[in-house]
Amino acid sequence: MFRTRILRAFVAAVLLSFVSAIPAQQLVNGYEPKWWKEAVVYQIYPRSFKDSNGDGIGDIPGIISKLDYLQKLGVNVIWLSPHYDSPNVDGGYDIRDYRKVMKEFGDMGDFDSLLAGIKQRHMRLIIDLVVNHTSDETKWFVESRSSKTNPYRDFYIWRPGHTAADGTRTPPNNYPSYFSGSAWSLDPKTNEYYLHYFAAKQPDLNWDEPKVRAEVYSLMRFWLDKGVDGFRMDVIPLISKPAGMPDLTPEQLQNPPNAYANGPRLPEYLHEMNREVLAKYDTMTVGEATGTTLAQTNSLVDERRHELNMIFNFDAIKLGRPDFGPSVLGPWSLSQLKSIYDAHASVLTKHDWDTVFLSNHDNPRIVSTFGDDSPAMRVPSAKLFETMILTLRGTPFLYQGDELGMTDYPFKKLSDYNDIAIKNAYKDQVESGKVSAEAFLAGQAKVTRDNARTPMQWDGSSEAGFTTGDHPWLAVNPNYTEINAAAEEADPASVLNYMRALIKLRAGTRAFVYGDYKDLDPKNEKVYAYTRTLGEEKYLVVENFGSSAQTYTLPDGLKAGTLLLSDIPSSHQANASTLNLGPWESRIYKQ
Ligand code: GLC
Ligand code: CA
Repeated sequence: MFRTRILRAFVAAVLLSFVSAIPAQQLVNGYEPKWWKEAVVYQIYPRSFKDSNGDGIGDIPGIISKLDYLQKLGVNVIWLSPHYDSPNVDGGYDIRDYRKVMKEFGDMGDFDSLLAGIKQRHMRLIIDLVVNHTSDETKWFVESRSSKTNPYRDFYIWRPGHTAADGTRTPPNNYPSYFSGSAWSLDPKTNEYYLHYFAAKQPDLNWDEPKVRAEVYSLMRFWLDKGVDGFRMDVIPLISKPAGMPDLTPEQLQNPPNAYANGPRLPEYLHEMNREVLAKYDTMTVGEATGTTLAQTNSLVDERRHELNMIFNFDAIKLGRPDFGPSVLGPWSLSQLKSIYDAHASVLTKHDWDTVFLSNHDNPRIVSTFGDDSPAMRVPSAKLFETMILTLRGTPFLYQGDELGMTDYPFKKLSDYNDIAIKNAYKDQVESGKVSAEAFLAGQAKVTRDNARTPMQWDGSSEAGFTTGDHPWLAVNPNYTEINAAAEEADPASVLNYMRALIKLRAGTRAFVYGDYKDLDPKNEKVYAYTRTLGEEKYLVVENFGSSAQTYTLPDGLKAGTLLLSDIPSSHQANASTLNLGPWESRIYKQ
């Protein structure tokens, strides 16, 4: 007995000395290497990805049937938009049961098979964590609204509001909702208002209540214990509400998310979440940082804080339009776009990490918004933006259909849309007479979130091979006969085949992950030229942002080097210092 104890102590001591002899992980250009820094993420919006049973709604077996396609594309992390039980007033971002799968998508067995299929292919899965708010159909809210003394009352944010002499009720403050109208609704049962930054059916949780936080941590553990690899955290900077919630000033009303986000207790909550949950697993976290400026980024993602790994900053994706309310697409310039990425490179330190993206389920299609979706320019302009996203600093996020160069849908009538944001905005803007229906609909067609949500275009058969039924939940873009995965598979010059080569190049090139970034020509309004340098290795990326050809001379006598990838294979111009770039042409050189 005594001897075994000595033996054990001896073995433990040897092990300990061995562990402490392992050097701290080698930094790469000052960065701590991590799998999520090297990832290429692909976002799936399950409703629109692939329908397996003909009911017109994408589902988990549909996703499983496309895992080989994703593996061949080369992406290695999948972000799944909400797959939870939901009444679906906001595309599943209104969760009723956090431990159940949306019945249209399948069941927990399907989810487990999906996760196993992803792991088998050496990919990882992150899921959406939507915990600023719940559905009003959660058990918690049903209880909470039932009486002022219910144990769940404080799970949500209730206030009496104001009562005028004539008995008229008005909300506690002037907060507007992201989806138009007031962010407060009066609930008749207890005659108090509850807060909802989004739809009335999405009441905000009260994170000041410790029991709420404990519930959230518990549901996070539930999914991590199944083997998911992390979370995309929906509107996470909103969880701590402004102190005292006073009225927004007229100035704050110009940009309410900025006033709502990053409340006083946010660092405490994120830190606690990390300590209680995330630190115990090898996870990736990315926060959807609504209302957060670049300058505020370090305070969320600096690795020494142990909070989030990275955030989505919206400066680039929202170029030319505000991040709140029904907006229209305004003008933007290339130098503005560059200045955003340049600022990121200088503000974020080697303790921070960044994301690069120009698309998701809340935004219109890249090629229609930033590029040129006319027949001759669609392919090169789609390739250019993907080249940019995959060679800039930060983990790249692709949205389903980007790899095909999918375009916006030709929306005309209000009934063409599904999104609650636009339906509410129509009531607010058109029915109240503020804007004409024509003007409203013309503007919305270019920015609506539904552009991203039309079904994936898999092949040239009816409904683009998305469903075998006749009624997809949202109409398929009529251009599916030309733009679809099967046609692109067969075409060596397609966006799809280019993307495969591009992702492969990025995956094999650490300089695109950990290398320093230098914008060679920040003021040039036609060409974006930058280098990524890691030690001795240097890469040059040159992109012609426009539909006309450009002759571009590299600054400072720089020579191009060896061409690694271009969408016009004939244009090598190895070591040239003046490049003849075709319309929307992008090239990657090794120097
Ligand atoms: C996020 C989601 C968006 C949703 C909103 C409310 O912005 O990306 O789709 O409507 O949060 O959950
Ligand atoms: Ca289905």
